[in-house]
Amino acid sequence: MKKYKFTKEFLLGGAVAAHQFEGGWDQDGKGLSIADLRRYNPNLNRKDINTERAMTKAKLAEALNPPKDLVFPKRHGIDFYNNWKQDINMFGEMKMKIFRTSISWPRIFPNGDETKPNEAGLEFYDKVFKECKEQGIEPLVTLSHYETPYHLVEKYGGWKSKELINFFTNFAEVVFKRYKNLVKYWMPFNEINAAIYSVWAGAGLKDDEENIETKSYQAMHNLFVANALANKIGKSINQDFKIGCMIAGMMTYPFDCKPENVLLNLHQEQRRKYFYFDVAVGGYYPNYIKKYWERKNIKLDITTEELEIIKNNTSDFSGFSYYMSGVYSVDEQELVEGNLIKFGKNPYLDSNQWGWQIDPVGLRVMMNQIYDRYQKPVFIAENGLGFVEEMKNSSEIIQDDYRIEYLKKHLQQLLLAINEDGVECLGYTLWTPIDVISHGTSEMTKRYGLIYVDQDDFGNGTRKRYKKKSFAWFKNVIETLGETLWDED
Ligand code: BG6
Repeated sequence: MKKYKFTKEFLLGGAVAAHQFEGGWDQDGKGLSIADLRRYNPNLNRKDINTERAMTKAKLAEALNPPKDLVFPKRHGIDFYNNWKQDINMFGEMKMKIFRTSISWPRIFPNGDETKPNEAGLEFYDKVFKECKEQGIEPLVTLSHYETPYHLVEKYGGWKSKELINFFTNFAEVVFKRYKNLVKYWMPFNEINAAIYSVWAGAGLKDDEENIETKSYQAMHNLFVANALANKIGKSINQDFKIGCMIAGMMTYPFDCKPENVLLNLHQEQRRKYFYFDVAVGGYYPNYIKKYWERKNIKLDITTEELEIIKNNTSDFSGFSYYMSGVYSVDEQELVEGNLIKFGKNPYLDSNQWGWQIDPVGLRVMMNQIYDRYQKPVFIAENGLGFVEEMKNSSEIIQDDYRIEYLKKHLQQLLLAINEDGVECLGYTLWTPIDVISHGTSEMTKRYGLIYVDQDDFGNGTRKRYKKKSFAWFKNVIETLGETLWDED
C-alpha cells in the first residue's frame, strides 16, 4: 500500500465541547444551560444509553429541584475554566494544528434573550483563543454544542419557537465581531440533526412533549434558518471566515442485497443524513422530506422568505462526527447502541464497550458520499474511542493501544479517501485530546482522551492531567504528516 501523507495545510487536531469540559457553570455570571440539568445516573444501563439521554418532564422537574445526592457532572466538567492555560499548553505540546471547542452560549448571554453580552464571558474566550494562537493552534469554534441557555427553554419552549433564531443570531454576531481576528473556522451548530434524534440536547425539547415529531421538525427548520443567517452575518464581518454545517454522521448499510433492505437503507440515509446537508449545504428542501411530512401529517411554518435565506446562504463545508456505523433490514434484526440512536448489528464489525460498532472503512465511504453530492470540502469534526480506563498510581502511563489502533485505522481510511478517491477534506479533529464528561451518559468512565484526568463519575479526584501512550503517538503522527500511520506494528 502507498504511504500517503497529509499536506502541511491539513488541519489535524482535537475537539471538545464547553459543556463537557469547561465547568465553572456558575462562575463570572454564566447562566444555566440545558446541559447543566443532565444528571448522572449511577445505575446507568450501558445497553440503553439512548433512554438515559432522554429528558422527560419528570426528569427535568427533578433536576430543577434536585435531591441532595443528585450529581450533575457537566456543571464541573474537568474544570478547563480554571485550567485553560495548562491544558492548551499540553495541546501545543501535542502539536495539534487545530482545536475545536464551543463557546458556551449562556456564558455570553446568561439567559439568552439579553441585548448586552456578559463581558466576563467574552474575556474568557479572548484568553483561550489567544493562548491557542501562541501555541500555533488554529481554533475552530462551534457556537452551539448542546448548550442552549435554559431560560430560552423555560420561557419560549426551546427551538420550536422562532424567537430563538434572533437570540442565536445576536449571539453569533457578538462573537463573530469579537473574535474576527482570532478565529477563522466556525460551525454554528454541533450535530444539527440532533434536533430530531436527541431533542433535548439539539433543540431544547422534552422527549415526552405532545406531537414531538412535528415540534422537532419545526425546531429543525428554525435551526436551518439560524444556521443560514449565521453564515450571512459571519461573511459580512469577515469574508475569509469558513463556516460549516455539521451533523452526527449516521453511516448505515443495507443488511444485505435484498432489494427491500437496500430501499429501506436508502430512505433512512435520506432522512437521517442527506436531508440536513441538502438544506444547509445544498440550499433546498428535498422532495423526499416533503413527502415524508405529508405521510406523517407534519405541518410546518416555513415562509418563502426563510426559504430564500436558506438558498442564498449555504455552508462552506460539510462537517460530521463519525464514530460507528449500523445496518438496516426490513426483517427483524438485533439492535445495538449507537451515537444518538440504535442501529442494526453488522456481523462483520466489532463494537466498543458501549456497543458502538467500529468501522474505519465506513468513514471513507461516507466522505465519498458527502463530497460527491455537494462538491464542497468535508471536515471530520469528531472521531474517537470511548474506553473504561483507570490509573492505579501517578507514575503509570495508560497503555491505550486499542485507541491508537482505532485512530490509526480511521486516519488511514481518511488518507485513502483524499488520495485515492479525490475527496477534498479540510481537517480532522479527534474526540478528544483530553478526557471529558460523556455527553450521552454524563459519566467520566467513558474516556476518549489522549490525556487522562484523575476524576471519577462523582467528580472526586485530583483533576490532575497525565499523558496516555496515545499522546506521544498522535504527536508523532502530526509531526510526520501521517507517515508513521503506515508503519508495521
Ligand atoms: C457526539 C457529540 O455526538 O458524540 C459529543 O457531539 C459527544 O458531544 C460524542 O461527546 C461522543 O458521545 P458520548 O455520549 O460517548 O460522549
